[in-house]
Amino acid sequence: MTPVWIMRQAGRFMSAYRRKRAVHSFIEMCKEPEIAAEVTLLPVYRLDVDAAIIFADILLPLEGMGVGFSFTAQDGPVIHNPIRNANQIKRLIITQPEESLHYVLKAIKIVKKELGNDIPLIGFSGAPFTLASYLIEGGHSQDYVTTKTMMLKAPDMWDTLMKKLSKIIVLYLAAQIKAGADVVQLFDSWAGCLSPYDYEKYVMPYNRTIFKALERYSVPVINFATNNAGLLELMSKAGGDVIGVDWRIGIDRAWRRIGYNKAIQGNLDPAVLFAPQYEIKRHAKFIIDLTAGHNGHIFNLGHGVLPTTPEPNVRFLVDFVHEASIR
Ligand code: CP3
Repeated sequence: MTPVWIMRQAGRFMSAYRRKRAVHSFIEMCKEPEIAAEVTLLPVYRLDVDAAIIFADILLPLEGMGVGFSFTAQDGPVIHNPIRNANQIKRLIITQPEESLHYVLKAIKIVKKELGNDIPLIGFSGAPFTLASYLIEGGHSQDYVTTKTMMLKAPDMWDTLMKKLSKIIVLYLAAQIKAGADVVQLFDSWAGCLSPYDYEKYVMPYNRTIFKALERYSVPVINFATNNAGLLELMSKAGGDVIGVDWRIGIDRAWRRIGYNKAIQGNLDPAVLFAPQYEIKRHAKFIIDLTAGHNGHIFNLGHGVLPTTPEPNVRFLVDFVHEASIR
């Protein structure tokens, strides 16, 4: 059977999540380990997914670095003082995650106690480029032009920032593994905005250091980016045991380019979950058939489930993947 989980599986499409969210801010939910653990478990019980992912956010480590941010209802995350010069980079603090992110580690411990060894728990972190893009742009960006300008105009500054972020990420992922995470995913969500040349020169070396540093913990590592059809060979070379791919490429072609020595995760278009169930079935079946010749496919969407997705369709998809992939 093909295992299936859904990126952003604990989120607003789920009525039980919205009920919790009505009385707590998103940050409160992340910082209260009992709530974060409860929300992490919702999709395991309601959707029958084969993995839990700890309820947190890639931006939470910013607080420990000394960078203020908030989540706004309209614009998503906003960084209060975006990083634009060498001094600001120098002032970024490297803290121990056991101090600055103790609440995430506590939530992992609670979830692990509840799940035992039946269902794996995924820990995660943003990757250096994706975190750098938020730090530099100050929020979400269409073109990443401020980030790319620093990268190309001030490569030494870029190197210092990327090295610092890589250190923080390794510490954080190692702490999550020690707390009980069975798998970790590196979200390089926005790296797909780069040309392969720039990815190879300005991003890959740092990601590679992270994957190398994690090898000693012997847990599977998922290397994920969106819009990565131009980067698959390089991402595979960078590292990780599983490469995440989105829907902009056929999963059979993607896997051939990644290499069958690695597992693959993906790649249903999240928008398909708004379609009639026969279309959901048809699209999911297509992916299952295209991956059937090899071992190591983890079914997922190509990116996070959208907040207004009809909840029954998500359960329908999970059940269908289980049913259709019995061999
Ligand atoms: O997958 C899961 O269920 C685990 C939880 C999770 C969240 N964010 C919860 C969340 C994970 C893995 C993330 C990762 C994350 N966060 C990424 C990388 C993944 C991706 O989508 O590419 C990024 C870029 C972020 C930054 C972020 N956090 C944005 C851009 C936003 C606003 C957009 C949005 O969806 O509202 C968030 C907020 C956020 N993170 C919510 C959740 C459930 C919504 C908060 C709310 O309830 O209002």
